[in-house]
Amino acid sequence: MTRQMTLVGFMQAGNVTVYSGSWRYPSADLSFLSMEYYQRIARTLEQGKFDLVFFDDRLAMPGIYGDSVADAVRHGARPVKLDLTAVLGGIVGATSKIGVGATYSTTYYEPFHVARTFATLDHLSGGRAAWNVVTSVNDSEGQNFGREAHVGHDERYDRAHEFLEATTALWDSWEDDALIMDRDSGEFADPTKVHEVNHKGKWFRVRGPLTVPRTPQGRPAILQAGSSGRGREFAAEWADLVFTADPGLAVAQRHYSDQKERIAEAGRDPEAVKILPMAYAVVGETQAIAEEKERLFLDAYVHPVASLALLSEVMNYDFAKHDLDDPVTAEMTEASSGIRGLAEGVKRHLGRDDLTVRDLAAHRATLLQGPRFVGTAERVADQMQEWFESRGCDGFVLAATHLPGAFEEFVRMVVPILQERGLFRREYEGSTLREHLGIARPGTGH
Ligand SMILES: Cc1cc2nc3c(=O)[nH]c(=O)nc-3n(C[C@H](O)[C@H](O)[C@H](O)COP(=O)(O)O)c2cc1C
Repeated sequence: MTRQMTLVGFMQAGNVTVYSGSWRYPSADLSFLSMEYYQRIARTLEQGKFDLVFFDDRLAMPGIYGDSVADAVRHGARPVKLDLTAVLGGIVGATSKIGVGATYSTTYYEPFHVARTFATLDHLSGGRAAWNVVTSVNDSEGQNFGREAHVGHDERYDRAHEFLEATTALWDSWEDDALIMDRDSGEFADPTKVHEVNHKGKWFRVRGPLTVPRTPQGRPAILQAGSSGRGREFAAEWADLVFTADPGLAVAQRHYSDQKERIAEAGRDPEAVKILPMAYAVVGETQAIAEEKERLFLDAYVHPVASLALLSEVMNYDFAKHDLDDPVTAEMTEASSGIRGLAEGVKRHLGRDDLTVRDLAAHRATLLQGPRFVGTAERVADQMQEWFESRGCDGFVLAATHLPGAFEEFVRMVVPILQERGLFRREYEGSTLREHLGIARPGTGH
């Protein structure tokens, strides 16, 4: 079979998509506090034969900007984040094939808790669970978990590595054939096939075994989005899907080949790990309609302060110290490699060096976060095909400009074209997420 795209729907369990003005879009459904909302969106993605619907997470409101959550609350800049376990449970009940993924932090949770949550989800979904491993991003999250400041970057990755060792050991603690359930003999399970873990490391002590038997996928699929050197190493070792956020094809191709090399160096099959840029598609009946829709959601509904509240959150830097028309200074770019990267991208995009804070705010949504495919369905499919076939990626994590419309339009208009071109499945062939992705079910090593 020819190489096929992997498609992931990027979801948020709250009032906005990754674009802070999305809740103001005229056709946006604001029933994000109801289960039906999430179930409807997941069913739409399943109709489109997506591999996975996955939810991001943050463990705090954006509260770095002006050292207050007031602006985030006022402008709806991601003040709402529901607990994902309940949301995914509802989706599992309303779908039968699509993978279901959630983000859990290795910095603020414990291995036993996370291993149990995803093993349970893998059973209840018949093998569709995925965990997006994040190390979290800022001080506000630390402050909700008894710390003054966020743990340092490389230390977070050390802890994440040990977290994965403990978690995978817990998932492997029951052998596949440990359950007997023989009513006549009274033997429930074979104790020689259920193992203690006895993990003792720098960060964690876990005795085990897990209280959940071996799951349909063996281990839930692992998603990861590290882009730093440490992040890429971590992904090479552990991830089944790697999310990236490169805006241009040439940069994406370099990232793609670098990540695939690191995967091979880690002793794994590079083809078995999918690299997926976050992208958004704005589909219109004509090119002009698509461009007007994009302008609406980017310009008309995104408040610059909402944008800066989110930028402060991601960069762990307080932009409220500056006026919107202040120049971007060395102090800002030296404060964070993220701000430096953003400023360089905006300079390239605008073709000038004299940036203001307003420029950063205006481009937060577009430049940080991967390619934008805007146009008729044919044109959107052409661009996706180009990225895919030129090895810029193995598929896409599609963010929604607004919900549920963006996904409904994509599924109705773009998916059939990708299918006709032989780039994407017409039907699910397997039933687990690993089967959709074409990746092996791991053994336990016992
Ligand atoms: C598509 C995508 C989704 C992400 N989702 C989350 C998330 O839900 N929670 C989070 O704390 N970080 C999230 N991140 C941030 C990454 O986990 C990571 O911290 C970031 O890409 C920077 O990489 P680094 O930590 O290696 O420097 C996401 C990144 C991308 C590209």
